[in-house]
Amino acid sequence: MICRQLYFVILTLALTRCVIAEGIDEFELERFCYPEQHKNTRKSCECSNEDSPPWGIRSINIDCSYKMMKTNDFSEVLPLYVNTLDLSWNKMDEVPTLASDSLRVLNVMHNNITALTNKKFVKVSNLRELYLGWNSIQSIELSTFDELAQVQVLDLSHNNVHTLGLQLFRSLIILETLDLSWNRLLNQTEGIQDQDFYRTFGVNTKLKTLRMQACSLRDLVLPEKVPLIKLDLRRNLLEKIPTKLPITLEILDISANLFQNISSVITANLSSTMSELLVEDMPRLQSVEEKAFETLIGLKKISFQNSRRLTKFSGNAFGSDVGRFPVLRTLIFRGTSIGSFNSTLEPIFKQLTELDFNGVPLICDCELVWIKDIQLETNGRCYNPSQLRGEPLTSVDKSEFSCPQWPHWVGGLFIFGLILLCTVGICAVVMCLRPNRGGVILRRHVGSGSPYARVTIEPNRQENYY
Ligand SMILES: *[C@@H]1O[C@H](CO)[C@@H](O)[C@H](O)[C@H]1NC(C)=O
Ligand SMILES: *[C@@H]1O[C@H](CO)[C@@H](O)[C@H](O)[C@H]1NC(C)=O
Ligand SMILES: *[C@@H]1O[C@H](CO)[C@@H](O)[C@H](O)[C@H]1NC(C)=O
Ligand SMILES: *[C@@H]1O[C@H](CO)[C@@H](O)[C@H](O)[C@H]1NC(C)=O
Ligand SMILES: *[C@@H]1O[C@H](CO)[C@@H](O)[C@H](O)[C@H]1NC(C)=O
Repeated sequence: MICRQLYFVILTLALTRCVIAEGIDEFELERFCYPEQHKNTRKSCECSNEDSPPWGIRSINIDCSYKMMKTNDFSEVLPLYVNTLDLSWNKMDEVPTLASDSLRVLNVMHNNITALTNKKFVKVSNLRELYLGWNSIQSIELSTFDELAQVQVLDLSHNNVHTLGLQLFRSLIILETLDLSWNRLLNQTEGIQDQDFYRTFGVNTKLKTLRMQACSLRDLVLPEKVPLIKLDLRRNLLEKIPTKLPITLEILDISANLFQNISSVITANLSSTMSELLVEDMPRLQSVEEKAFETLIGLKKISFQNSRRLTKFSGNAFGSDVGRFPVLRTLIFRGTSIGSFNSTLEPIFKQLTELDFNGVPLICDCELVWIKDIQLETNGRCYNPSQLRGEPLTSVDKSEFSCPQWPHWVGGLFIFGLILLCTVGICAVVMCLRPNRGGVILRRHVGSGSPYARVTIEPNRQENYY
């Protein structure tokens, strides 16, 4: 409480100084930030002068976040020179109607807004950034954004939007960033998966960043000749990379989609300007086939992080001319299940500055021994053979990366053969040592020559004669 009072005192002092310096009505600011009816309640906002050079235009930032405010708690007219207004984490059920020529940034995230209606932004037409994320917005009237010709960043993420009206964004003529992520039923919007997204919804062709995470999309059609740089399609239902993508694209996130493999067919239409490709958390991805990245010579980073079913990474994934990837610096295999890498990848791995094998079950045998020549901390550990299990790559000696001369079954067969041979040998010896007849007798039938031959005992006739 003392702190708070102290804060007020300091603020009042600061404001007084400003009144003297600039001669404007600071009471207006005070009335706004600490309205009489909410004085010393949780509903007062915090207003601060932005540090600006003495000759700069004054700007005030107002923070009303976490104040349990309803839309009606808010007066329409904002103080002069207000630059940013933070209304996040309140209880507003619609966007308040505001009036300010100076307001540049409006943050209404984390409220309970269910609909955007026309004419809400008529009097804040100089807005540059509008954050409407984390509400429950379901419907957006067609002319909602009509007065917002200056907006560069529009965030509608984490809402419940399932229909975008035709040409909805047409007035946002200098829009640079559009975020529609986590509107999980956006796929219900007619045409969103099979018609040119820009033309259908009136998106500014100069857009630089488009985010559509978790919108249940199976496909998306973008024009090829637009200067889009970053496209985020994480967590959709894509089974392949959209057929048509802007040729200037540099960062593509297709993580957590339903690809089973990455092959040259799938990457065929990506442009060589691509510098960062994120293929993380893929639930079905099993293999990276040969030539998968052959044409993507501008790549700087590829990440497969946590694609747990990924077991195969072709030695020719970069094609046969590995010298063509001059700027590739980062490969993340963390959390995948790739056991081994072909030594054809050595030149590529050698030019990296970051190579992450955390949690990868490496098979430390003669085929992977070349990895010891990579001078990077990869956090890799051996999983097989069992005597090296858990050992960090760095502490295993090159000589320990050995392969058995023969496959295991050959060894087994050899031992089995040896046992068989021994048995036969022992038998033979035992038989040789026995008296010769022993064996023969057994096989002979009882006959005349045998000691057991039948003996006929006849009465002694001679005796009878006597
Ligand atoms: C959000 O608004 C809906 C109706 O629009 C209401 O039922 C719900 O209670 C509100 N939630 C909160 C947290 O105020
Ligand atoms: C949108 O995606 C959901 C699953 O996320 C699916 O149930 C629904 O059928 C899809 N709708 C359309 C029109 O594609
Ligand atoms: C690549 O683009 C061409 C022409 O637009 C198209 O016919 C083909 O299907 C695309 N390939 C893939 C894999 O999307
Ligand atoms: C890649 O996956 C597709 C299905 O997504 C399958 O039809 C194709 O045969 C697979 N290619 C290879 C080389 O495994
Ligand atoms: C490594 O790649 C070369 C060249 O493509 C191939 O001949 C060889 O069989 C591969 N080795 C393994 C173990 O896959």
